[in-house]
Amino acid sequence: MNPHFSGLLAILLSAHKAAATGLGWHFVQNGTTGIVALESIIVSDTLAIFFDRATNDPLQVDGHPAWGALYNLETNTASPLTPKSDSFCASGGLLSNGTMVSVGGHIPVIPEAQDGRMGLRIWEPCDDPNGVGCELFEDPETLHLAETRWYPSSLRIFDGSLMVVGGIHEGTLFYNTDPVNNIEFFPPKDGGIPRPMDFLARTLPANLFPRALALPDGKIFIAANNQTIIYDVEANTEVQLPDIPNGVRVTNPFDGTATLLPLHPPDYIPEVLICGGTNTSDQAPQGQLSSQTPASEQCSRMTLTPEGIRRGWEIEKLLEPRMMPEMILMPNGQILIINGAQSGYAALGTVEDPVGSSNSDHPAFTPSLYTPDAPLGKRISNEGLPTTDIARLYHSTVTLTQKGNLMIAGSNPNARVVNGTTFSSEFRVEYLNPPYMTVDRPQLSNVPKQINFNIKFHVDISVPPHLQKREMKVALIDLGFSSHAFHSSSRLVFMDAQLSKSGSTLTITSPPNNRVYPPGPAYIFVTIDDVTSPGIRVMMGNGLSPPVQDQGVRF
Ligand SMILES: *[C@@H]1O[C@H](CO)[C@@H](O)[C@H](O)[C@H]1NC(C)=O
Ligand SMILES: *[C@@H]1O[C@H](CO)[C@@H](O)[C@H](O)[C@H]1NC(C)=O
Ligand SMILES: *[C@@H]1O[C@H](CO)[C@@H](O)[C@H](O)[C@H]1NC(C)=O
Ligand SMILES: *[C@@H]1O[C@H](CO)[C@@H](O)[C@H](O)[C@H]1NC(C)=O
Ligand SMILES: *[C@@H]1O[C@H](CO)[C@@H](O)[C@H](O)[C@H]1NC(C)=O
Repeated sequence: MNPHFSGLLAILLSAHKAAATGLGWHFVQNGTTGIVALESIIVSDTLAIFFDRATNDPLQVDGHPAWGALYNLETNTASPLTPKSDSFCASGGLLSNGTMVSVGGHIPVIPEAQDGRMGLRIWEPCDDPNGVGCELFEDPETLHLAETRWYPSSLRIFDGSLMVVGGIHEGTLFYNTDPVNNIEFFPPKDGGIPRPMDFLARTLPANLFPRALALPDGKIFIAANNQTIIYDVEANTEVQLPDIPNGVRVTNPFDGTATLLPLHPPDYIPEVLICGGTNTSDQAPQGQLSSQTPASEQCSRMTLTPEGIRRGWEIEKLLEPRMMPEMILMPNGQILIINGAQSGYAALGTVEDPVGSSNSDHPAFTPSLYTPDAPLGKRISNEGLPTTDIARLYHSTVTLTQKGNLMIAGSNPNARVVNGTTFSSEFRVEYLNPPYMTVDRPQLSNVPKQINFNIKFHVDISVPPHLQKREMKVALIDLGFSSHAFHSSSRLVFMDAQLSKSGSTLTITSPPNNRVYPPGPAYIFVTIDDVTSPGIRVMMGNGLSPPVQDQGVRF
């Protein structure tokens, strides 16, 4: 190499290295996923699980391509798991006893996989940091859903069960033309008979992966297409809420995303935020849609109290239109908006002008932060946030980790693994490191492994001397399950806390009951002067198998 050029390269490389380790936010690429990380969930401090479609992923197992993988967050390496059925476009979550369940899937295109549409794939809590001795359990003959479901969503509810919502029976190219207009639970309720849900029939044909959120009284908010309801699981009744304004639709194949904003003591007033999607008519024939049509830049927010519902939706604008964004609840209460495309639609190969096979184009490369308590119009910013060059379009995922950074993976707007197209199958993991990853951080220790509701408990804390302890926030977080631009079961409940005079002990008050935080695994993160500690994993509630009794106090 020309010595002048190599000198320049060295300078550039060292500048890049400095940029990746200095103060501020940074994207850092490390590791590859082995399979397309179409779905992802953190199952321990060191392990994440990915699921893909059973096709031609490079990671091999038993002489064929894998479609499940365990990702080691310490070594940044993937090893194969062995689901029996096809986990293509499934959902999942954690139960009140800490077990991960993957639900639904599709009819396989390779002989090694079984029909996954009634799939239930179980990962029991695993203490080994490398996953040694832990296996994915699946027995389609004896353990399965009641209905065939491709594209369902799922949510952990107040009794620690998963509620499984909607989906398609067999298949479709784009709209939900073969709907499952009902919900079911795991473990089953109602003797295993699915409950019809009119809302699903009313929101056809753009209602796949309904965005379901658990409210602090145990009821469920659901958004599908441009409609929203509150569903009462115990009474099996629904209350209709105002439509999302301006014809904006937010469920697959028109994926926007939704989250419950962080809940604060003492009142835990629920507010929902829905961003992105499209205002395209759901009657438009798919072959006449374009990958170049701008997505929606609308965010809609509503407080779910009687007064809040009377006030209706408050509208604000993203910095760019987004199809298939995801929102991550950060430990300081901000919401990171990341991934997706600025134009087109979800799914693949159906619009009149796909890019390669992608129905969407113009990847959104720069994340934004949403600050819930800032004034309207000043909540969304990308100041100081970095820009990546890795497109995260259809079939991509993102999750917060125990370390407190974001793991971003996946993207495959193709029917199988392909390379050499504009939007090829993407295997690179990229972390988005918040500024606190490169400074001395608070550290928690002696945290109880299991915490009951409505109690005070003590933990030890060390606070680095550079922090002045002007402000402290203690967050209880469910990291959620990422699939199809939606982070199901993700949740943040702030907890009141007092620092001892010596500054070395925290006294924390747990959430009042199992409706404010559905019982199950959680991470506690402490943020002092906007510097967040690594998370400590705990079990909220009695840790028993679902359905569990109400715990704590009703309020
Ligand atoms: C990537 O991860 C490996 C394993 O944890 C680590 O040794 C290496 O330093 C990381 N590289 C970067 C650039 O962060
Ligand atoms: C929601 O969509 C339906 C058609 O699917 C439409 O009739 C209705 O006006 C829309 N609501 C709003 C508020 O735009
Ligand atoms: C969608 O919004 C854009 C921009 O506001 C507008 O020009 C367009 O007419 C809208 N389309 C529909 C179908 O409402
Ligand atoms: C795709 O092709 C490019 C260029 O040949 C290569 O660098 C890359 O490693 C390939 N990706 C995969 C996942 O095979
Ligand atoms: C948790 O509950 C589920 C559903 O009953 C069960 O399949 C699983 O084995 C349980 N796990 C543990 C660790 O008890």
